[in-house]
Amino acid sequence: MRIILHIWRQRNAGEKGRMVRYELPNVSEHMSFLEMLDVLNEELTMKGEEPVAFDHDCREGICGMCGAMVNGIAHGPLPGTTLCQLHMRHFKDGDELYLEPWRARAFPVVKDLVVDRSAFDRIIAAGGFISVATGSAPDGNAIPVQKESAENSMDAAACIGCGACVAMCPNASASLFLGAKIAHLGLLPQGQPERESRAVAMVAQANRELFGSCTNIGECEAVCPKDIKLEVIARMNRDFIRAKCGVG
Ligand code: FES
Repeated sequence: MRIILHIWRQRNAGEKGRMVRYELPNVSEHMSFLEMLDVLNEELTMKGEEPVAFDHDCREGICGMCGAMVNGIAHGPLPGTTLCQLHMRHFKDGDELYLEPWRARAFPVVKDLVVDRSAFDRIIAAGGFISVATGSAPDGNAIPVQKESAENSMDAAACIGCGACVAMCPNASASLFLGAKIAHLGLLPQGQPERESRAVAMVAQANRELFGSCTNIGECEAVCPKDIKLEVIARMNRDFIRAKCGVG
């Protein structure tokens, strides 16, 4: 099928970007979205032009590296799907696709579709961990965990930190990411000692990184490729309020 692409091209963080039109006349419906971009890049390279820079690694929907806005939707039109798991069979002959990088002040553009998401790393470094005394590994069942807590924690731990939630949020809020990381540790017994200080430290770091605030719009949940639910934001807010006010 024939696909027309309009792709954000920006040489580096300091230069202005612009949309550039490309046409691919022979896209197979079996290709993944990133394979379609590979084909484009092969053609550009053959012509001596600069290939389109885009992030990717596992191409299996587990690493969180890929991501771009496709016609204004983070990771494209298929719910619960990363860009690398999106296949061209979901588009039709003659479709025009507009590809842009994540847009957020905390995610500056590095080049073309690649943005700097190291703000997420700094948020994790601020508190997204459990402090443990080193030593030999404890028995797997030494600390009992309630089934419901274990399941909710695992659901939150599915967050791959891709940044789609930020990109889709009109406030560029990182609340879904923060909530997921805080919930997956705070729901487990091992996460209790640092539960409140973790929420305070991670929220403070998110504010320093200039992410916006959550106003319950829900675009983040709608585009999350791992179906993280808004409930994690409520959990984060409860932990934060309890830490600050002693109630919650
Ligand atoms: S490349 Fe790893 S999630 Fe898409």
